[in-house]
Amino acid sequence: MVSRRDFISKSTLLAGSLSFLKFSNPVFAETLEKKVNKLGSLSPGETANDEDFWSWVRESYTLSPNIINLNAGGVSAQPKVVQDAHIENYKMCNEGPSYFMWRILDGGREPLRAKLATMAGCSPEEIAINRNSTEGLNTVIFGLNLKAGDEVVLTKYDYPHMMTAWKQREKRDGIKLNWVDWDFPLENDEAIVKAYADKITSKTKIVHITHVINWVGQIMPARAIADMAHARGCEVIVDGAHSFNQIDFKIPDINADYFATSLHKWLGAPFGSGMLYIKKDKIKNVWALLGDDKSGQDDIRVFENLGTRSMASEMAIGNAADFQSGIGIQRKEARLRYLKDYWMNKAKAIPKVSFSTSAMPKYSCAIASFSIDGWKGGDICDKLFGDKKIFVTPIVYEKLNCVRVSPNIYNSTWELDRLLEGIEEIAKATPPVQDDPKEKEHKK
Ligand SMILES: Cc1ncc(COP(=O)(O)O)c(C=O)c1O
Repeated sequence: MVSRRDFISKSTLLAGSLSFLKFSNPVFAETLEKKVNKLGSLSPGETANDEDFWSWVRESYTLSPNIINLNAGGVSAQPKVVQDAHIENYKMCNEGPSYFMWRILDGGREPLRAKLATMAGCSPEEIAINRNSTEGLNTVIFGLNLKAGDEVVLTKYDYPHMMTAWKQREKRDGIKLNWVDWDFPLENDEAIVKAYADKITSKTKIVHITHVINWVGQIMPARAIADMAHARGCEVIVDGAHSFNQIDFKIPDINADYFATSLHKWLGAPFGSGMLYIKKDKIKNVWALLGDDKSGQDDIRVFENLGTRSMASEMAIGNAADFQSGIGIQRKEARLRYLKDYWMNKAKAIPKVSFSTSAMPKYSCAIASFSIDGWKGGDICDKLFGDKKIFVTPIVYEKLNCVRVSPNIYNSTWELDRLLEGIEEIAKATPPVQDDPKEKEHKK
């Protein structure tokens, strides 16, 4: 049972001397406590279809009544308590910016670090708070001491910003990139690990893994890949943009040396908030991307020398962490998988529909991508939005030409019913003649 006093006092304790800041909204915390306690001893799986609870969760957001947003994979909506905290912080900053930003709000940095470390299951001394996964992963990619001839294994389905960063190092420093290719869905751990292993040579220093692949929601067996890579003398970078607070794990569980995530995705924190984890004994090996006097020592804070930024949004990360912790990651994961299964199981029965995502719980959670024979991903998205104001994203990339659907805990099954109606109608219709040879490409 979550007690309101526990919930609030934990937040207040973490806020320390900043207890006058609204790290948690007591009225909201009380309601959350009641709602969660009402679930009683039900297992996370048993609460996944408790529409009373989840519609209350939905009401905690400020969603547009005019569109059906099924693209949490791009970026997530923030609960109202997070928006309120952000706005209050912002207003306070404007009462005397340099005082309130750097003397007051920035004082919440260490408690926030501790809170994120608790969620991540690691030491606060391994967590840097930054702006997004791109920043965290680029910090590591550009900060590692690699020399000409050193090799990196990555895949064609990693995130473009990271592939680009590696390609830049290839051009600048003469490192060599060895690419794994995939045919989704992937449903065999041994084959996945072998595909990485086959690209490792005596010169390989790094294996770069995307934990949940953005294009199709594929969950990768990160731990098994990391263990194999370590056994072969490589370090492991994990892109956790989509895994942190979508699926239940602690960073040390996957044995990564370096891990970065975007907190504006599944944690529902303000836009432009992220987190970088570096295993304590590896911190000194990574040069800070934005120079710092202590770069090369083992203080994780060297990666926070980012110049002026929004302390208002940074400090509202704590409110997002409180909100999500109040719901609980196991319940959240179960609900996300329930929503994905809900539409995927029904869509399976629609003629011409196929998937690039495995339905096995081990290999997918919230996100799945589908295709309709004869249709291009972009045309399906246009029609779903044009006819029903359903917002999903086309994935037109490498071998994929499909549509990614990514509901979050604020989505309801009636929205998925609308999606299913749309898919059914499109599957029966004639695809448009493509007059523009340039296909619509993936946008977040
Ligand atoms: C797998 C993956 N990595 C990294 C990123 C980059 O995230 P951000 O733009 O927040 O840095 C994304 C964004 O969608 C992603 O899907």
